[in-house]
Amino acid sequence: MNYDTFLRDLPKVDLHCHLAGTMRPATMIELAQNNDVQLPTTDPDLLYAFDDFYDFLRVVRLAAECVITRADFARVAYEALSGAATSGNLRYAELFFNPTDYQRQGVDYPTMIDGYIEGLRAAETDHGVHGRLIPSINRELGPQVAEGMVREVIAHRRDEVIGIGMDGSEHHGPPEQFTQAYRLARQAGLHCTAHACEDNQTLDQAPPSNVIDCVDKLGCSRIDHGYNLLADARLVQRCQREHIPFTVGSHTCVSSRQQTRWDNLHRMRQANLSIVICTDDPPMFGTDIGQSYASVCTQLNLTTDAAAQLALDSIDATWLDDTDRHRLRSEFATTIAAMQNQPAQSTERSDAVVDANRLSTGQPAGTQ
Ligand code: ADE
Ligand code: ZN
Repeated sequence: MNYDTFLRDLPKVDLHCHLAGTMRPATMIELAQNNDVQLPTTDPDLLYAFDDFYDFLRVVRLAAECVITRADFARVAYEALSGAATSGNLRYAELFFNPTDYQRQGVDYPTMIDGYIEGLRAAETDHGVHGRLIPSINRELGPQVAEGMVREVIAHRRDEVIGIGMDGSEHHGPPEQFTQAYRLARQAGLHCTAHACEDNQTLDQAPPSNVIDCVDKLGCSRIDHGYNLLADARLVQRCQREHIPFTVGSHTCVSSRQQTRWDNLHRMRQANLSIVICTDDPPMFGTDIGQSYASVCTQLNLTTDAAAQLALDSIDATWLDDTDRHRLRSEFATTIAAMQNQPAQSTERSDAVVDANRLSTGQPAGTQ
């Protein structure tokens, strides 16, 4: 088995993926037509061409506008999971969605949540891939809207909803504004994460202290992105010591920023931070979970051994309960051992075929 095939076939989790950002251009165009939403273009090759991060945020919110009926939500969740299971052996995902973006067009929370759950269950039946949901605060709408959103999530509890997140442009909603929303969520037993220190924002807009505020003030057990943290060695050390997982995006919205992203991932790994390779907004950024692993592992010069360890350790960052986490870990270990038993083909990296016996079971991602 060659290096790229190994990385594609590796069993994976994805813990940072936005459902509105998972739609293939053809799906978004079809839903827009069905629901009378005007798009700036119906050319699938141009729909996801972004000028910058803010242009991307505008399109991802527009994508949400195209999803209206319960069947639409079910379709989006189904296509996200089944596509990733097929193309990159995704086994488990925790998926973001912004309830307030859909409410703007009059969709009520139970419609979206029950539609999504229907799609998750169908994907599980057809592809054996499991999904959970993370309602996410659009920080640009301010703390009051965020608190209302969290109250609604709590009023309509579903087992599949396991935590809350926060996204959007960071300097338009720094973490400390949202302490009350996060307190409400934690009191209801929800896990917490937030986007922080995204490298599309300057250090002034998204300073390293935002990561610490997310941990200390919001009670986040993991962080989405985190790259700008690298500017503060003391805070890097703290996050390393506390094994705080960073769900990093392999790809970004504009290609001119791509090398910076890979450089940052390289530096995060050198600093022994726990990283989990994720897709963020896969077709919008020109990736899928298999491609994300292939790109990052190639860029970081990881052996197949190290890539397999990363996939295994990423399970520690999930919000599964202990029983399900151990079950997923042993499923991954079995699959990896079977992959290892296949003969290596000559590639530039074929010297590094994984030895599953050497895979530790308790190490956080990035610390080997
Ligand atoms: N919403 C979807 N993707 C996002 C990202 N990478 N950053 C902030 N908000 C987002
Ligand atoms: Zn994101």
